[in-house]
Amino acid sequence: MLEGKTYLITGIADENSLAMYVAKKIKENGGQVVCTGLGVSKHHSKLSDKAKAFLNKTYDDFQKSVHSVLGKKTHTEILDVTLPESIEAFCEKLISKNIQLDGFLHAIAMDKTIRNKVVKPLLDVSFQEFCDTMEVSAYSLISLTSHLFKNNLLNADSSICSLSYIAASKVTFHPYRNISIAKAALERITVELADELGRKNGTRVNCLRFSPYMGSKAGNATLNEQDVQFAHRKSPLGNALPEDLAYEVLNLLRPNGRTTGEIRHVDGGYNIMG
Ligand SMILES: NC(=O)c1ccc[n+]([C@@H]2O[C@H](COP(=O)([O-])OP(=O)(O)OC[C@H]3O[C@@H](n4cnc5c(N)ncnc54)[C@H](O)[C@@H]3O)[C@@H](O)[C@H]2O)c1
Repeated sequence: MLEGKTYLITGIADENSLAMYVAKKIKENGGQVVCTGLGVSKHHSKLSDKAKAFLNKTYDDFQKSVHSVLGKKTHTEILDVTLPESIEAFCEKLISKNIQLDGFLHAIAMDKTIRNKVVKPLLDVSFQEFCDTMEVSAYSLISLTSHLFKNNLLNADSSICSLSYIAASKVTFHPYRNISIAKAALERITVELADELGRKNGTRVNCLRFSPYMGSKAGNATLNEQDVQFAHRKSPLGNALPEDLAYEVLNLLRPNGRTTGEIRHVDGGYNIMG
């Protein structure tokens, strides 16, 4: 289905990341992937030793898991979406290696107002915390797309997918405050980009809301087991699995689709419940 197609996969932290399931599904269907992970780059300035050690370990975990799950030859690069120079350097790498993309998965989120599964009330969230979460989790869809476009790295009829959560539009049973606003922005960005890019060269942009999933680092840092079980019981089909999400992303990434600007639920039907 994806013979001759190449997709950028962001957001792999380890083998349990949702993005890893998508990358596997693309490869199973004959496509190629380029994977990016957070790591120290020459564009970082004034990093503390602690921050440097964290980023080095993050990149090491990312690279090991990509090579063991997707194969040693899989192309890996550093990408920090908060640094325009890092995005540009990544684009230059793709150009130097003659790689053109047929789309990408945005699977990036960060919210420092959630610590040890405890979430700051919105009234205590600082402007800086608000902007940091927005920059990483929402604006990055614009900046990454823009850099790829301006460097002519996205083929016509490309497809872009990002990952969201029901909290973008409804107050959830577990506290999910600051990041829910960034997810709402991510979904709105999806719709606006779908119009802008569809008219430009047929590029599609869609977003998928997934069930709560504790297997990943981000999920484990945020969710409680009882919250996941609650969603599982409330959903007519039970919580969707990462494989279900990967299958749906594959469907949206495949060439010649006519679906764009869609906010799609892969959540076992949780969203229809009152
Ligand atoms: N786990 C869930 O329950 C769930 C449910 C619905 C949607 N999602 C979304 O799925 C996506 C992937 O999350 P996951 O659950 O697989 O967790 P994960 O921890 O595996 O992935 C989050 C990724 O974001 C990356 N990231 C953070 N800051 C970055 C930066 N500045 N530059 C580049 N990358 C950065 C991390 O390195 C990590 O790879 C996120 O957008 C998340 O909100 C998760």
